[in-house]
Amino acid sequence: MKRAKRVGIAGMGCYLPERVMTNKEFEERLDTSDQWIRSRTGIRERRIAAPEQAASDLGVIAGRRALENAGVAASEVDMIIVATSSPDMVFPATACLIQHSLGAANAAACDLNAVCTGFQYAYVVGAQMIAAGQAGKVLVIAAEKFSSLLDWEDRSTAVLMGDGAGAVLLTEDAPRGELLACTLGTDSSGIENLWIPGGGSARPTTHETVDQRLHYMKMNGQEIYKFGVRIIGASVTEALARAGLKESDLDMLIPHQANLRIIQSAAKRLNLSMEKVMINIERYSNTSAASLPIAMLEAEQGGRLQPGMIVALVAFGAGLTWGASILRW
Ligand SMILES: CC(C)(COP(=O)(O)OP(=O)(O)OC[C@H]1O[C@@H](n2cnc3c(N)ncnc32)[C@H](O)[C@@H]1OP(=O)(O)O)[C@@H](O)C(=O)NCCC(=O)NCCS
Repeated sequence: MKRAKRVGIAGMGCYLPERVMTNKEFEERLDTSDQWIRSRTGIRERRIAAPEQAASDLGVIAGRRALENAGVAASEVDMIIVATSSPDMVFPATACLIQHSLGAANAAACDLNAVCTGFQYAYVVGAQMIAAGQAGKVLVIAAEKFSSLLDWEDRSTAVLMGDGAGAVLLTEDAPRGELLACTLGTDSSGIENLWIPGGGSARPTTHETVDQRLHYMKMNGQEIYKFGVRIIGASVTEALARAGLKESDLDMLIPHQANLRIIQSAAKRLNLSMEKVMINIERYSNTSAASLPIAMLEAEQGGRLQPGMIVALVAFGAGLTWGASILRW
């Protein structure tokens, strides 16, 4: 019988813009405080891209670093999938712009939009392309410039999000991150709890849509909070079961960095000590799709991911989408 292909991570890279924006800076422009933001979210600061940097500029650097880390030339890449909900423009896909800048002339390129769950979806799609024999090397990049989607006058959302990019090169028989099992899902009953209603074909840009500030992220924070706590635990448990594993087998949880309190509550539901949970939200806030690959890279660089460990990645976001995957490190 033909053995299923083992797909994993041959290289990782990330890029965080240089500009650090602290909570203090919000105190000067909004009715908020460093203390409120830290205690409700765990965020201390975030990175903000320069005005001339678009999502593709962040993604190119992360992608190049992942290729260097793998020792693979851009010309060898078969496919680039970019997870983003802050694309450079409506079209072409940000992946095409990145393909051009990387010189990855042999790669098919497209974007995948599952908002904060985008990396999780793109990772699974990329891995399946390899497992199905349709591609040998897939570069999955999550690149977000959410600062361009925020209403900077809305304290309930502006303080939550930051900019950044992370990337992985997926190949067969890679040294780490073998995808053992996954689960992806969507509950569209929550569409209006997190969305940008204006600027698309439903409400094309007009003076009225701009005046109504419909081009910015709108969120029902409490609903998203409850959803996040529930879905992290439920989806990790389901993905573990699909891998033939249980919660006690988990060595490390790398969750979407949306809110420290959401993560703590979800870890409790999974009976997981916080020592086994990767947290970096205090430095970057929520970088949407880029949150997982950045956290995964920092976990490895910090020596927290050792060969053989069972690692869960989990994310949730607008849609409302979610996804969890189980990797063997
Ligand atoms: C947004 C969030 C931090 C708000 O925290 P919370 O404890 O639920 O706070 P509430 O929404 O109940 O608001 C409490 C009060 O704080 C206020 N508030 C909201 N943002 C504030 C801010 N930045 N500074 C100060 N006060 C703020 C609210 O206006 C409200 O005031 P009121 O009681 O006078 O009406 C929290 O709901 C959350 O993190 N939700 C999930 C968001 C998320 O993860 N989004 C991305 C998903 S991918």
